[in-house]
Amino acid sequence: MTRIDSTTAPTSATDAVTVHAAGVAEGSWWRDAVIYQVYPRSFADANGDGVGDLPGITAHLDHLVELGVDALWLSPFYRSPQKDAGYDVADYRDVDPLFGTLDDFDVLLEAAHARGVRVVVDLVPNHTSDQHVWFQAALAADEGSPERGRYLFREGRGTGGEEPPNNWQSIFGGPAWTRTTRADGTPGQWYLHLFDSSQPDLDWSNPEVRSEFEDVLRFWLDRGVDGFRVDVAHGMVKADGLPDWDGHVAMVDGADGTDGTDGTDAVNGSGNSGPMFDQDGVHEIYRAWRRILDSYDGDRAMVAEAWVEPLSRLARYVRADEMHQAFNFSFLVAGWDAARLRGVVEASFRANDAVGAPTTWVLSNHDVVRHASRLGLAEPEHRPNGLFASDPQPDAELGLRRARAASLLMLGLPGSSYVYQGEELGLPDHTSLDDAVRQDPAFFRTGGAEAGRDGCRIPMPWEADAPAYGFSPDGAAWLPQPASYAAHAADVERATPGSTFDLYRTALRVRKAEHLGTGDLTWLGVFAHDPHVVALRNRDVVVLANLGGAAVTLPAGAEILVASGELTQDAGATAVPSDTTVWYRA
Ligand code: NOJ
Repeated sequence: MTRIDSTTAPTSATDAVTVHAAGVAEGSWWRDAVIYQVYPRSFADANGDGVGDLPGITAHLDHLVELGVDALWLSPFYRSPQKDAGYDVADYRDVDPLFGTLDDFDVLLEAAHARGVRVVVDLVPNHTSDQHVWFQAALAADEGSPERGRYLFREGRGTGGEEPPNNWQSIFGGPAWTRTTRADGTPGQWYLHLFDSSQPDLDWSNPEVRSEFEDVLRFWLDRGVDGFRVDVAHGMVKADGLPDWDGHVAMVDGADGTDGTDGTDAVNGSGNSGPMFDQDGVHEIYRAWRRILDSYDGDRAMVAEAWVEPLSRLARYVRADEMHQAFNFSFLVAGWDAARLRGVVEASFRANDAVGAPTTWVLSNHDVVRHASRLGLAEPEHRPNGLFASDPQPDAELGLRRARAASLLMLGLPGSSYVYQGEELGLPDHTSLDDAVRQDPAFFRTGGAEAGRDGCRIPMPWEADAPAYGFSPDGAAWLPQPASYAAHAADVERATPGSTFDLYRTALRVRKAEHLGTGDLTWLGVFAHDPHVVALRNRDVVVLANLGGAAVTLPAGAEILVASGELTQDAGATAVPSDTTVWYRA
């Protein structure tokens, strides 16, 4: 049992290391916002076709208000053949009929704003759908034509051009090039697609591409959106000449994001480098976009989805004249390891404070195994691309316990946090989906070697006793929900003290009341190098996460504000058991 008492508790600056100073309590909304990711196809289905839609989101806004989030980010709902669940956009200025209409979007936006909730939409600029008019025109046009010049068409290598132009691999598996067929049936040029073959990459050296997306930004800004989440923000500019590269690209990488000075880096800075990612030229695009956003009223913001490491490199995306935020995937990949978490937290503040940007935090999204499942795996830092029924299964109870502790740690940190729909209910992945129902192109392009991301995209359970747990009126659901979702249904959790929903709701209320999002961070000296405990002070709240096996006893008189699990008593003092986080005032 570790004990914090008056002799070991950090009371002076000598045994406490301040990592980050507090900001102004009332600054720009995005600096400390809790932003809730809605994955529209799996949130709520109003029309009964088994796929979530915009009216479904509008109907459930009060869930988000009760939870206490500041904003929602909507994954793509634009016109799309849905080859990559909407990240294959055919028309950037319209809503796919699957999700509703532009009027439905306006209704949703107004209803969210009326409740004080901001709305961020997804922008997918690296690639379009192959059904986009530009790509259709490119296929119909001649080699070397302006139509082809909007994409990355190239001649193949080899005498007959039968080899791809370079050796790049698609992030979803297989080659990143597909060969076209000419009108006369003979094989033609190849086009680049970092993702599925239905997602051709645009050529961002083409001014027409730049001006088109600036116009798309204005289209949604004019409608009143509060910002954009920018897909593959590190990928739009490729190295000149598209040189070969033998590295491995992945949306989920293995390094821990720190800059090597904390001693925790196994693979320092081994993020998605390579000639297709994080090229210097990409920053000019964001400077131009920032000027556009700044020309609007209302503090509009952009967040970069950029799997870039180390964090000092990622911070270049959030310099004062570029994006406002970037997702901190280094935190997501840190696993359940106290030293690694501390290392990432420190490196995050060091990198972001240097450019005056807020640090962000995220544990789950629609691309990774949910943290309630991930942290229940034998190796929590191991992040498979989905799980098959034949894989070692997560320990559901341990995973949920750790997920709650990890979330409470995250929400106690200064900065802005992202919450993925369903994590407030403690949802696990569906880890035994039938292969016949899988839809993720990663499953198909790897020939079934990777399960892909369907398991973290299961429709939400709203009512324990309704068909499809209330996801749709008649029980239709585009992916089946596991039986375990009944216990996580929103109607049950909302009414159950101590549920995961209750934990998030309480944490968000305290976080706001105590201004933790704009707070400071000082490590508790006594735990500064502890292999099992992450403990920090944020304003006058102590956030303590116990990742080890032994309980940690709190100082006498500690006022408990919120705890991720049951606390125990030890000779009259409160103790924090294993895999539990607590916020207290002492
Ligand atoms: C990142 C998105 O989050 C993911 O879902 C998508 O498949 C790729 N970008 C390609 O757009």
